[in-house]
Amino acid sequence: MEKIQTLRGFRDILGDERKKISFIENISRRYLSLFGFSEITIPVLEKTELFIRSIGDTTDIVEKEMFTFTDRSGESVSLRPEATAGMVRAYLQEGLYTKERVSKLFTIGPMFRHERPQKGRFREFHQINVEVFGVGDPLIDAELLWMVSLILNEIEVSNYKCEINSVGCPECREGFKKELMAYFKGYTDGLCDDCVKRLQRNPLRIFDCKNTQCTSISKESPLLFDHLCMPCREHFERFLTYLKEFNLFFTINKRLVRGLDYYTKTVFEFTSDELGAQKAFVAGGRYDNLIEGMGGPATPGCGFAIGMERLALLVKKEYTETQPNFFFAYVGEEARTYLIPVLKAFSKEGLRLRYSYEDKSLKSQMRYADSLHADYVLILGDEEIGKKIFIVRDMKQKRQSEMPLDLITLPQKITEHIHR
Ligand code: HAM
Repeated sequence: MEKIQTLRGFRDILGDERKKISFIENISRRYLSLFGFSEITIPVLEKTELFIRSIGDTTDIVEKEMFTFTDRSGESVSLRPEATAGMVRAYLQEGLYTKERVSKLFTIGPMFRHERPQKGRFREFHQINVEVFGVGDPLIDAELLWMVSLILNEIEVSNYKCEINSVGCPECREGFKKELMAYFKGYTDGLCDDCVKRLQRNPLRIFDCKNTQCTSISKESPLLFDHLCMPCREHFERFLTYLKEFNLFFTINKRLVRGLDYYTKTVFEFTSDELGAQKAFVAGGRYDNLIEGMGGPATPGCGFAIGMERLALLVKKEYTETQPNFFFAYVGEEARTYLIPVLKAFSKEGLRLRYSYEDKSLKSQMRYADSLHADYVLILGDEEIGKKIFIVRDMKQKRQSEMPLDLITLPQKITEHIHR
């Protein structure tokens, strides 16, 4: 019978890659807790309207990439393409703004975008998504970048660039849009059909286009950075001062734009050339109008998301288990009766123990222990039971010693033995 496969762009994550992702998660959780963040779990499926209103109806994500369908009650729902929208909804729905001055939240989970799969780009991918609601000062923007740099340092990823920019606010963008329209109107013949439409609806989105002709036209366009209003310029200057105080390395990329409409002022991306075309592995920025736009009180926000699959590609570190691996090899009916008591004694002490589920010869059990990379094998057969001992074989040193057949003292004796 034909086997059923995953959907295109959806994957099972296992083995080394899964270990790397868990490693990233563990370290990130530690730093997030250190910086005062609490974890929140939000739904994977939300009303489509949530994403249209927050991400923007002219963005590629909303126009082309959402997994949207009508559910059985006739409502349009979408798998979340990102988490910020849901985090803002939760912040408002749960009334967090009435309970705390600043909310620092993170969530970890899958996101879904119907993009063309390629290296580092999937239709289901995973993010650690981090948000701070309630701080307007760019000190938090810099603090977030600093936290990311600490996480990257700990997972020993160093070959990356941190690119920053400011995309201003609706006021600076209004004037700029007119100038941009005038510029692109001179090139309408060279733009793709999508960009000709974008020119009317939201000329800033032309910067997202991946068409080579459109990118070469937009490369020479005027820069929003040069049209920032005074408050946005000051915000950016202060941001730079903080970054320097944190001793962070960064590059100002005045052409850095984001594929989501909610951003204001600060935007940033951590990129690595090792990743090829999909080189951003952390990205985010500030969104000072989003919470109000979603029906909440005027509250600034800032955050980022780590693309787990992409960051995992950069992790080179080898994982060596520091905890030793034990194996219990039993031969004969009577020795088998010791199996569960030995297992209980080991797990009570937090020691890892594997064993064969079926009666096998000692030789076969030793081969199995070897394949599991056991550090020590406890051997018990009729002869040892007669002598009231266990044999403990050190698999690396290829040496054996004896220990009393006493389950109460065994874990302690073993621990002493391996630390000798
Ligand atoms: P984003 O730039 O759309 O931002 O995604 C953040 C990161 O998720 C990207 O830099 C990338 O590493 C990863 N990513 C995105 N799409 C894919 C894909 N198709 N396959 C694999 N990885 C992918 C956001 O999602 C914002 N919500 C981040 C944010 C939070 N801004 C403020 N707060």
